[in-house]
Amino acid sequence: MPEIIYLNGKLVSPADAVISIDDRGFLFGDAVYEVVSSYDGRLWALERHMRRLRRSLAAIDLDKVDVDEVRDAVRETYRASEFPAAIVYIQITRGVQPRSHVYTRDLQPTVLITARDASPLRAAVDPDGVSAVTAPDLRWRRCDVKSTNLLPNVLAKTRAHEHGASEAILVDPDGYITEGSSTSVFWVENNRLFVTPAGPEVLPGVTAEFIIEIARDEGIPLLAERVALDRLRRASEIFLTGTITEVCPVVELDGAPVGSGGPGPVTLRLRQGIQARIAAGDDALR
Ligand SMILES: Cc1ncc(COP(=O)(O)O)c(C=O)c1O
Repeated sequence: MPEIIYLNGKLVSPADAVISIDDRGFLFGDAVYEVVSSYDGRLWALERHMRRLRRSLAAIDLDKVDVDEVRDAVRETYRASEFPAAIVYIQITRGVQPRSHVYTRDLQPTVLITARDASPLRAAVDPDGVSAVTAPDLRWRRCDVKSTNLLPNVLAKTRAHEHGASEAILVDPDGYITEGSSTSVFWVENNRLFVTPAGPEVLPGVTAEFIIEIARDEGIPLLAERVALDRLRRASEIFLTGTITEVCPVVELDGAPVGSGGPGPVTLRLRQGIQARIAAGDDALR
């Protein structure tokens, strides 16, 4: 199946998807993005992703994008791709301008959308659990913005892979856990579920939002707390969440088993919970 690319209002072939060397996304990472998953021919949680996109655009002072048009373009690209299970990537840059740190307000934003087969990406997530390592969180102080400036994430995740782990769990300069390099982190202590509090240190994950709702619906006690690494090491369960990852148990942290060394009961219950919501198409905004 040919790869479908939407660029600035048109569906084009890869050969015609050309971006200027003066695009600010290329030069400065002056851009935001979203990743949306689809299941059985339906885009999952599109409204929630559009809500976060709107927030990211406002945070980087990019006010010339009509998010309703982006939503339409996402649907059009997804339909054209013909993948029932797709991963749709959306990137919006501030536009094209001769290189200068100072941006002008007349730029036409670049809108890029791709739709790719989700199967290989989903198959790479081991349902039995993965190993994670910890790494210093070297990111900026607005990690709540889904910016394409991902160099610290890219370096941390690649080091993790080189050490045989799937994810790097990031630790801030004060020794507190923030999140994974491309995932949100939850853990369990004494049958209570924990997550790091919302704030500029972490991305407000769409999948994490569902997990929080499911925990509330199911009466699982949930606390948002900043915790130091030594406390995470004592957790009985740790799991990662993300659009591609869904819910993935962490069974080993820095080479030591987490809890029993296998997926824990709270993790499995929440994974079942989100899979049931996906199957029911229950992604309405709350
Ligand atoms: C740093 C970071 N945290 C968390 C997430 C999970 O967010 P979501 O569940 O919206 O995919 C991502 C996803 O890309 C991420 O990059």
